Amino acid sequence: MIFAEEVHILDGKKIVFRSARSDESQMLIDYLKTVTGETRFLMCESDEINYTKEEEEQFINDHNQSKDALLILAFVDGEYAGNCSFESKSGSRRSKHRAGIGIALYQKYTGFGLGKLMLTRLLTEIKNLGFEQAELTVVGNNEKAHRLYESLGFKECGIIPNANKYDDGTYADDIFMVLEF
Ligand SMILES: CC(C)(COP(=O)(O)OP(=O)(O)OC[C@H]1O[C@@H](n2cnc3c(N)ncnc32)[C@H](O)[C@@H]1OP(=O)(O)O)[C@@H](O)C(=O)NCCC(=O)NCCS
Repeated sequence: MIFAEEVHILDGKKIVFRSARSDESQMLIDYLKTVTGETRFLMCESDEINYTKEEEEQFINDHNQSKDALLILAFVDGEYAGNCSFESKSGSRRSKHRAGIGIALYQKYTGFGLGKLMLTRLLTEIKNLGFEQAELTVVGNNEKAHRLYESLGFKECGIIPNANKYDDGTYADDIFMVLEF
């Protein structure tokens, strides 16, 4: 799906939300490499991000062309700040009512309400499309994200202990959260 450009003002900054263009694949790869290095709360280590420009372009096009997936980029005063997305969990008819979501911002654009604003917009889109629940996984000690999700109505529904093992030998749980519309 395409997300038509939207402008918001937040904390005195101009925020633009829109879909990605296929010529922005390198920008998205650079972002993934940076954000996975800035936090221990994303899906992998920075050196594991090895997407080619072609693969990333395919990812962008798949989201833009799909009826049950959406990728929203955020720009703060013209600078790319991060994205959020959802994909239907539709491996079968039984799971078509479930949307899986994800979000990550560059560290410098966290903490002033952008994450909450983006997720609020994403969840409205998901609900309006007829999905019955939104689902996500958050790393156990990611208190900021956990609190944000709770404030949007997500509830914890399960934990995988020690789901993440870091290079320094420490572990962190994965927590599953669900928001029922
Ligand atoms: C998690 C993330 C998306 C949150 O976005 P954000 O823009 O930083 O968050 P916001 O400024 O919108 O804050 C939203 C809520 O988070 C919580 N929060 C914010 N800062 C916090 C802090 N320092 N400690 C605890 N909770 C905090 C509050 O509940 C806040 O709501 P409130 O302002 O109504 O009190 C963003 O920080 C991020 O991308 N982090 C790195 C990647 C990541 O962890 N992604 C999530 C993977 S599951």
